[in-house]
Amino acid sequence: MRILSAALAFAAALGLSTGTATVAGAQAYPSRPITMVVPFAAGGPTDTVARLVAESMSKSLGQQVIVENVGGAGGTRGAGQVAKAAPDGYTLLLHHIGHATAASLYRKLPYNPATDFDAVGLVTAVPMTLIAKNGFAPKTMGEVVEFVKANKDKVTYGNAGVGSASHLCGMLLMSSVGAQMTTVPYQGTGPAMNDLVGGQIDLMCDQTTNTTGQIKGGKVKAYGVTTKDRVKSMPDVPTMQESGLKDFEVAVWHGVYVPKGTPKDIVDKLNAAISTALDDPKVIARFADLGTEPEPKDRRSAAFHKDFVIAEIAKWKPIIQSAGVYAD
Ligand code: MLT
Repeated sequence: MRILSAALAFAAALGLSTGTATVAGAQAYPSRPITMVVPFAAGGPTDTVARLVAESMSKSLGQQVIVENVGGAGGTRGAGQVAKAAPDGYTLLLHHIGHATAASLYRKLPYNPATDFDAVGLVTAVPMTLIAKNGFAPKTMGEVVEFVKANKDKVTYGNAGVGSASHLCGMLLMSSVGAQMTTVPYQGTGPAMNDLVGGQIDLMCDQTTNTTGQIKGGKVKAYGVTTKDRVKSMPDVPTMQESGLKDFEVAVWHGVYVPKGTPKDIVDKLNAAISTALDDPKVIARFADLGTEPEPKDRRSAAFHKDFVIAEIAKWKPIIQSAGVYAD
């Protein structure tokens, strides 16, 4: 026992990590740029949220927070990369609701979303919109439902892979309409949006952080928003519930994670930097332009985020099981 305490004192003097945070290490953190992995393609909604928050976090942390896009497999490729990274605070993951649904959707997930990460903090919950290429015939949400019922798999629906938010919304839409469309997977809804604007695919459900500009620019048609209330930045777009899809409600919550075992002092420092970013007037204004807002203060702790992810995994499991949609 005495040898161990001497060793611990020696390690502390060296600022080496003993699994729990050493003040020296945390005070020195960060001493070099930090990578924030976004598990979807550049230019999409999650990338937009990440770059806004990362820019503000760089200021308060005094080191660059650099976004790295690792798309594929509905976000599980990027998440898997972070699960295996060193728990030293230099590799972060910014992911969304897909982190929770992957636990039920993927039969062979190379990591456990609940236990292989430490939750750092929630960022924002983004509404989604159902949009279509400009040449798509239906004028209203009601007509979309009839059109999909009549044409089924002749209708092409773009998404960012199994487990992505656009996949989840599509699954909810197809089960509420009672008809299956043909889905076209992409590495993210950034590239999917290019094909929708180009008329290569018919429909997509995507986050307002990616659709607002295209809708306001008249590049796509908008049928409905997936939140209970209309979005302030697009007051003319009705809710899916107003259009008769009564239980249709989904918002894409986003949070930041680090590999399991990252020292608590470092997690606390990152959590504080996220909260500072969410109070940043530039971030607040840009979020508002894009139809979303920062998580309120009472939902910003790492502990709240941890419990929230566990609750979301439990909530989506029966929904996914009843839909019978799985990915290997
Ligand atoms: C993206 O950033 O591409 C999206 O979050 C993908 C999705 O989940 O639909």
